[in-house]
Amino acid sequence: MSALATPSTPTAPGGLPLIGHGLQLARNPLPFIDSLRAHGSVVCIRIGPTPAYVVTDPALTRKVLVTDAAHYAKGGKIIDALRVFFGDGLATIADGEAHLRNRRLMQPMFNKAHIAERGDAMIDQVRTLVGAWTEGQPRDVYADMNEVTLAAFLVALFGADLPEHLAGEFTSLMPDIMKGTIRQTILPPWVTRLPLPANRAHAQRVARLRSLIDEAIDHRLSRVTRPQAPGTEAAAAGCPHAAGQERQAGLFDTLLTAEDPLTRQQLQDEAITLLTGAIETTGTTLAWTLCEIARHPQIRRRLLEELDSVCGDRPLRYADLEHLPYARKVLQEAIRKYGPAWLVTRTATRDMDLGGHRIPRGADVVWSPYLHQHDPEVFTDPDAFDPDRWTPETVSAARGSFLAFGDGRRKCIGENFAWAELQIILATVLRTWPVFTPVSSRPPRPQAVVTVKPDALTMTFHQARPAG
Ligand code: HEM
Repeated sequence: MSALATPSTPTAPGGLPLIGHGLQLARNPLPFIDSLRAHGSVVCIRIGPTPAYVVTDPALTRKVLVTDAAHYAKGGKIIDALRVFFGDGLATIADGEAHLRNRRLMQPMFNKAHIAERGDAMIDQVRTLVGAWTEGQPRDVYADMNEVTLAAFLVALFGADLPEHLAGEFTSLMPDIMKGTIRQTILPPWVTRLPLPANRAHAQRVARLRSLIDEAIDHRLSRVTRPQAPGTEAAAAGCPHAAGQERQAGLFDTLLTAEDPLTRQQLQDEAITLLTGAIETTGTTLAWTLCEIARHPQIRRRLLEELDSVCGDRPLRYADLEHLPYARKVLQEAIRKYGPAWLVTRTATRDMDLGGHRIPRGADVVWSPYLHQHDPEVFTDPDAFDPDRWTPETVSAARGSFLAFGDGRRKCIGENFAWAELQIILATVLRTWPVFTPVSSRPPRPQAVVTVKPDALTMTFHQARPAG
């Protein structure tokens, strides 16, 4: 047993001098993290020389995220690495007053009524992009889903009239930004500070992203009106737009018209955080969903039947989404099976007792939606893709273990938005291309980077419906 763990805290087997469990985390992250459950409710691993405590019991994860959250601060090496480029956006800012204030300010952006206002503009955007695909042409589904997700998110955030050149440059820049960001979080901090070509290229791309965001903010500022006088109809509706402008509005307007506005730097930090937080999580989930539908013809059939019965021959509308319960189950099952976040960290701000385990002050505490969502005690046959497992009873029994969006004060602020976007894109793809087929007979392998993504997923899309 390692001297780092208390007598009652097991250490994961297989750690090596100097690199600790780094090799398992790099080579086999998902089986490794899943295997820890067998060793106890809190298991010590070492990332290099540094110990980290992985929580495998969902009741203890709840303590970390909710009941004892005051003593487990948002932090750790990944967050420190992200903060270098993304500043103090909502996902990276330290716990405390500033986080609470910004969260209160941003919450209305993502309430259901605001998202609904943007819903039909998002559907139009997704339909245009997906409709432009070519029948039978092999497509990289992971890249496509990230691109469609970004396009829909830009329309929602900055309005449907965002100048085309801005949308185009966002689209070409974001995949490299995401790759560079992942690299920065994996490498030791001192390597990321060296004047290497890859570091310089990443810094330049992030600087370019900030200036694009600046242009997008200026574009919105030229369109929004300042807060309405109290007592007017528009003020009562919380609407920052002149009559007739709603269709072009963006969720970001909420921040631009706040009575206690953010500085330009803070606005940039929030926009960059939202763009990076919103895309890969949702894009990855959609790629896995399409992959599972392609493997299960009966799931595809039920999805198409549900869509036909709700929409008939007319195009999808935002109001249809609440009448597509089976599509929601399919998406929920993809989120459960694939995470998509697999490793999230906190830092103990003082010595803590976590279910009888001593967590020293300053130690990293790790929790994993992927691990909890593969617990066979809660999810029978966890590696199976079974949307029908989501009955009202299992939804309530799984509440403490379905942690894809986190919990407590740092819970995902974009959850409602994510559900809307996931449903819009899935329904639009299915209506436009009812059949999609993997090009390779080898199923994609889950690859844990920031999210759990498919290592390779190429498919062809077809308009002819399957017989029967
Ligand atoms: C399937 C899609 C998504 C998943 C699985 C997901 C997952 C998560 C998780 C697990 C956290 C909590 C991290 C922690 O506890 O430290 C989080 C936080 C966050 N998410 Fe999401 N997310 C998704 C989509 C989105 C979208 C669409 C947006 C933006 C519209 C978004 C914006 C954020 C932000 C800003 C935070 C930080 C909140 C805070 O610290 O107060 N996410 N997300």
